[in-house]
Amino acid sequence: MTARILNGNTIRDQIYSELQQQIQELRGLGIRPGLATVLVGDNPASKIYVTSKIAACEQLGLGSWRFTPPATVTTEELLALVEDLNNRDDVDGILVQLPLPRQVDTKRVLEAVDPAKDVDGFHPANLGRLVSGRPGLVACTPVGVMEILRRSGATIEGANAVVLGRSDIVGKPTALLLMHANATVTICHSKTKDLPVVVRRADIIVAAMGRTAMVTPDWVKPGATVIDVGINKVTDAAQAERLFANFPQRLEQFRAKGSTLVGDVHPDVASVAGAITPVPGGVGPLTIAMLMSNSVKAARLRRGNRAAQPAGAEKA
Ligand code: GUN
Repeated sequence: MTARILNGNTIRDQIYSELQQQIQELRGLGIRPGLATVLVGDNPASKIYVTSKIAACEQLGLGSWRFTPPATVTTEELLALVEDLNNRDDVDGILVQLPLPRQVDTKRVLEAVDPAKDVDGFHPANLGRLVSGRPGLVACTPVGVMEILRRSGATIEGANAVVLGRSDIVGKPTALLLMHANATVTICHSKTKDLPVVVRRADIIVAAMGRTAMVTPDWVKPGATVIDVGINKVTDAAQAERLFANFPQRLEQFRAKGSTLVGDVHPDVASVAGAITPVPGGVGPLTIAMLMSNSVKAARLRRGNRAAQPAGAEKA
C-alpha cells in the first residue's frame, strides 16, 4: 500500500481563498484586520518565520506591523511594547515570536498579551477556554492539524487517536481538539511504556515530539492516518542515505543542498499508512494559514456583532 499524500499547500490555498472572501466582507464594513509581530534579536529561524507571516498578511490584504527590539531587550521594555499594542485599536492580533532571549521572562510577556488579541493562542485564558470548550483563540499548529484531518475526510469521531508529545503549544491543545471532536485520545511522551504497541492501536497518529524519523513503519497500523508535525534538519549524509534509501529523488535533493527537512515520522511509513502529511509541505503551510485565520477571527471577536462570523464558519 502507498499512503495518500495530504498536501498542506493545497489545503492552505483552499483556506486562503475562503479567508480572502471574509476579509473582503470585513473591508466592506471599514475593517482591515491587522497583525503586529514582535521579533526580538536576530535568530535566523525566527526571522524566516516572521518574514513568512508578514508575507502572508500582505498576500491576503491584512495590515501588518513588525517590531524588532534588540536581543538585549528587558522584560519591562517588552511588557511596555505589548501594552502599547494591546491599546491600539488598529491592531487585532499580537504575535511575540519565540524563543525570547534568556534574560526575558517569557511567561510574563505572553500573559501580558490581551487574550482577545492572542492569535497564537498561548495565553492561559485561551488555553482555559479550549479546555472547557468555549470560543477563543486556539494555537495555530493544532488547529492546522484538525483542518488537515477534516478537509481530507478522515473519520475523527470514535477513532483511536495517539498524540506523541505533550508540549503546551502542540501536543496538549491537539489532544484537546481531538477529544472535543469525539476521538478517543492517548497522549504519549518520553516516559510512555511500550510506545510502539500503544501507537500501533491508533487510527490517527499526530507526531509532535521533535525526534527525527522516530515513528517507524512497524509502529503504524496499516491504513492509519499519520500527521507529522516534526520539522528536523538533517545534515549528516549517512543519516540521509538511511532515511531516503527508498526515495532517490529526496536523496538527490539532499546531495545538491547538503541538508534536508525530515519529520518525526520515518519516510518509509508512507508504505503502511493510509494517508500521511509530507515534510516539508504538510502541517507547515497550515500553521501560517491558521495564524491568518486567527487574525481575522480576532478582528471579528473584538469588534462584536458588526463583524459577526457567518453561520457555520466556526470550526475550532
Ligand atoms: N516559535 C516557533 N513556533 C512558534 C509559534 O507558533 N508562535 C510563536 N509566537 N513563536 C514560535
